[in-house]
Amino acid sequence: MSETNIRDIVREKYGEAAKRAATGGSACCGGASAIAGGKDPITSSLYGANETLGLPSAAVSASLGCGNPTALAELNEGETVLDLGSGGGIDVLLSSRRVGSAGKVYGLDMTDEMLALARENQRVARVTNVEFLKGELENIPLPDGSVDVIISNCVVNLSADKDRALSEAFRVLRPGGRFAVSDVVVRGEVPTEVRKNVELWIGCLAGALEENEFEAKLTRAGFREVEIVPTRVYDVDDARDFLSAAGIDSDALAPQVDGKFMSAFVRAKKPAKG
Ligand SMILES: C[S@@+](CC[C@H](N)C(=O)[O-])C[C@H]1O[C@@H](n2cnc3c(N)ncnc32)[C@H](O)[C@@H]1O
Repeated sequence: MSETNIRDIVREKYGEAAKRAATGGSACCGGASAIAGGKDPITSSLYGANETLGLPSAAVSASLGCGNPTALAELNEGETVLDLGSGGGIDVLLSSRRVGSAGKVYGLDMTDEMLALARENQRVARVTNVEFLKGELENIPLPDGSVDVIISNCVVNLSADKDRALSEAFRVLRPGGRFAVSDVVVRGEVPTEVRKNVELWIGCLAGALEENEFEAKLTRAGFREVEIVPTRVYDVDDARDFLSAAGIDSDALAPQVDGKFMSAFVRAKKPAKG
């Protein structure tokens, strides 16, 4: 599939998800939640009630992440933060509290419906230190060295050109800037067919990186001090309903799946000096 095709499919899926969230439905477009009554083990219960208190309900219900990057990232008053693939804006709104009125948070997304939802959530939350930008991870519409911290929640896996997305992230960070991202990663070798089925469960169209591959790509982009810490590890039971509905024998798959797919917090730094 070409890069343009992948991007178009991702845009279409998340456009539909945004419309569902805007009308009070679940934004989820894959996983257990796609099956009646299911609770998605990836996207559910990521945020504490104290964190979401005061946020617009549409921002919370549109949450499609797989982690809680703002809880794990160090964010300081006055800093500039960029959220790659900001969706309905939940992590942007949470970050805006942390950086305060002297700081600024950009949310970047390529899907018009998500941007409209995020801007509406910003209006309802009455937050002024936030700006949602239309654009792609692979071509970030911000100048070199203009951002202190990059966050992202389950989006790098969707990029059709991850090397380019990571080198763009590196470019817009100031020297010494931090990369603090949640994403789904794969641990070790997984047969292609298994990977395809599980990735369909994980997201609308996912291309999760193997953890060593992720580290290598970050290093190639120029990052240092790379650290990948699992936050949730999935087993075949998490995907059982979905796999059965797709006619796949989940018991047979278990040894190849268990412990190999996980949500992780990925941390790295842009060196302070060239
Ligand atoms: C899984 S959702 C996550 C949304 C949000 N981070 C959250 O935690 O709820 C992925 C979002 O990333 C956006 N996205 C996916 N690929 C992108 C790309 N290459 N460039 C910009 N946005 C992208 C989609 O439009 C969608 O809003």
